[in-house]
Amino acid sequence: MPATVLVGTQWGDEGKGKVTDTLAKEMSLVVRYQGGHNAGHTLVVNGERFALRLLPSGVLYDHVTPVIANGVVVDPVTLVEEIDGLTARGVDCSRLKLSSHAHLILPWHVAHDALAEHRRGEAKLGTTLKGIGPAYADKSRRIGLRVGDMLDRRAFADQLRAVGAAENEVLVALGVEPADVEAVVARYAGELADRLAPYVTDTVTLLHDALDAGEHVLLEGAQATFLDLDHGTYPFVTSSNPTAGGACTGSGLGPRDLTRIVGIAKAYTTRVGAGPFPTELTDATGEALVEIGREFGTVTGRRRRTGWFDAAMLRLAARLNSLTDLAILKLDVLDTFDEVKLCIGYERDGRRVVGYPDRLDDLAAVTPVYETFPGWRTPLIECREVADLPSQARDYLAAVEKHVGVPISFVGTGPERDQYVQFA
Ligand code: GDP
Ligand code: IMO
Ligand code: MG
Repeated sequence: MPATVLVGTQWGDEGKGKVTDTLAKEMSLVVRYQGGHNAGHTLVVNGERFALRLLPSGVLYDHVTPVIANGVVVDPVTLVEEIDGLTARGVDCSRLKLSSHAHLILPWHVAHDALAEHRRGEAKLGTTLKGIGPAYADKSRRIGLRVGDMLDRRAFADQLRAVGAAENEVLVALGVEPADVEAVVARYAGELADRLAPYVTDTVTLLHDALDAGEHVLLEGAQATFLDLDHGTYPFVTSSNPTAGGACTGSGLGPRDLTRIVGIAKAYTTRVGAGPFPTELTDATGEALVEIGREFGTVTGRRRRTGWFDAAMLRLAARLNSLTDLAILKLDVLDTFDEVKLCIGYERDGRRVVGYPDRLDDLAAVTPVYETFPGWRTPLIECREVADLPSQARDYLAAVEKHVGVPISFVGTGPERDQYVQFA
């Protein structure tokens, strides 16, 4: 039975949470497969705003089993806070399933993230400072602790003591305040282990059994294609694989289980954090995108950098993810613009560049080639059918489809759950 993957195609914050929430109506399980609480996925339901960090965006539905799979890095403090916060707002989180193989983010990971950024000075990556990179590094070095380790409290306490002592040696040598290891042991092998233990399970078997039983599974990517550790604008990336292949390694489903792969893109482009951005606008138009689109980070509150839609990067995203269809979000943000531009490729030194530059310095040196479209200058928020969209908006979307080479299935016309147009 079908498993659908939902993947960001730009640099994150495309509106993945909203699309997950919409598609989750027809799903039995919604799964996060990578990343951690660097993600911030916003849902607006009847005017009420939810910003999810670790829990998959299907959690708001009673019929959905939310799953945090093996590829995620879990900060236990944040997860417990998120469960408590949602429970207090009337959301039942008791169905949550948490992979025993998911790695833990521990206090020293956060310290290393801050230290690495500080040492980079002006050249910092602009991470979310949540300890994501160091936690994945420990996983790769095969010295990480996993969620399943919390189940044996005594052994976990010993593991924490051993790792904590080793980490403190390093932190002290680097001139950083050491962690209070006994306080970490008391909290993580105590209250936090008690709180999370009921959710811990073998999520690989759970997911395969669900598919065998004919259930529909949705895999919700965090971050995005151009923040992918292997395929993004390295080193200005995150430390996991948001691309569709990561949905397999991060969940334990096989490639043939994936039947639909939806690429999520904004009708323009944003990026939070450093790194090259060919269509970036630093003028009044860029400022208008920030203001109208409310482009401030969900996690860090940072102002997002903004620019026009980039079909050249989307063509590569389509290849990297085997996209079956595209969801274009926040089209309504362009409502008041006299003209809308679409980057269809790049040039360098007056010559057209073929494809998406492989090397970062080449990417930083290109200039976009634009097609310009007249704006529709009318609010889209009430549009529910394709026929409701003004012809200028339909022309722009047709050009996006043509230049990306992937059909559009969904267009966002406002932040609320029901504010979208579904294409046949
Ligand atoms: P995610 O990380 O990809 O889930 O995206 P974020 O939640 O970080 O950022 C997307 C923002 O856009 C959120 O504030 C959403 O409420 C909002 N949003 C999503 N879809 C639409 C849309 O179609 N129109 C408008 N105006 N806002 C939207
Ligand atoms: P969602 O899922 C946007 C960015 C950070 C930084 C880089 C590395 O909401 O789209 P990290 O803390 O992961 O080591 O930071 O990645 N970044 C995001 N940008 N949306 C996100 O998540 C992001 N998660 C990480 O800003 O540039
Ligand atoms: Mg976000």
